[in-house]
Amino acid sequence: MSRVALVTGGSRGIGAAIAIALKNAGYTVAANYAGNDDAAAKFTAETGIKTYKWNVADYEASKAGIAKVEADLGPVEIVVANAGITRDAPFHKMTPEQWHQVIDTNLTGVFNTVHPIWPGMRERKFGRVVVISSINGQKGQFAQVNYAATKAGDLGIVKSLAQEGARAGITANAICPGYIATEMVMAVPEKVRESIIAGIPAGRLGEPEEIARCVAFLVSDDASFINGSTISANGAQFFV
Ligand code: CAA
Repeated sequence: MSRVALVTGGSRGIGAAIAIALKNAGYTVAANYAGNDDAAAKFTAETGIKTYKWNVADYEASKAGIAKVEADLGPVEIVVANAGITRDAPFHKMTPEQWHQVIDTNLTGVFNTVHPIWPGMRERKFGRVVVISSINGQKGQFAQVNYAATKAGDLGIVKSLAQEGARAGITANAICPGYIATEMVMAVPEKVRESIIAGIPAGRLGEPEEIARCVAFLVSDDASFINGSTISANGAQFFV
């Protein structure tokens, strides 16, 4: 029986590339999505990967969604907390609503995703948790006080989970992608995006598959002693 992997935000962008890479590596994959039914249906039609709709910002919905995945496919042994949103604004213009939307989805969403799965991982003495953070959690970003706070928070989450899970055969790691060619980055105004790309020594945006391959490694048996780590994949834009 192949291991079951859940990818949140898994029907588009980096999450879709991760879901596909894990399927190609032999896992049984469930891709969660929040709202875009058309994109999810298209993704399933193209890849054969089942999609499940719930809002990661809602604990009860997450718990119920994960229970459905487990009833359909079996216990989730690999979880990739990837779902995330931006609500960019300079701090003096950022509204409490923009703050809370991003915190609820990107940070509380990680808690809501991993918490229902964690007890089963502990019982079975195996688990792989990967959280998709961001370069902007490492360096901060103009107009992203909310987003950067969540992505920095992700690093605290995995470092703590790593210590709690290590003796139960569970690893928890983060990946900090740089600027990747996804809808999220394409939504940045063109002039700003061009100046960002000019600051990337690689001279280009990353590809979602370049992040997906990092995930495929971290969840494999080969990565069993890598725990609490942060992998930066940013084309040399920033070093910690
Ligand atoms: N550094 C310094 N100054 C900056 C700046 C920057 N990076 N970006 C904008 N500014 C300046 C502008 O030049 C402008 O200055 P002036 O007032 O002197 O002209 C001011 O800040 C912006 O003021 P505006 O009133 O025009 O700002 P706005 O309310 O219209 O907001 C914005 C514009 C939201 C900041 C827009 O420029 C933007 O989206 N910037 C990109 C932010 C970004 O990089 N987000 C990352 C998204 S991708 C992602 O998040 C994925 C990942 O993990 C990497």
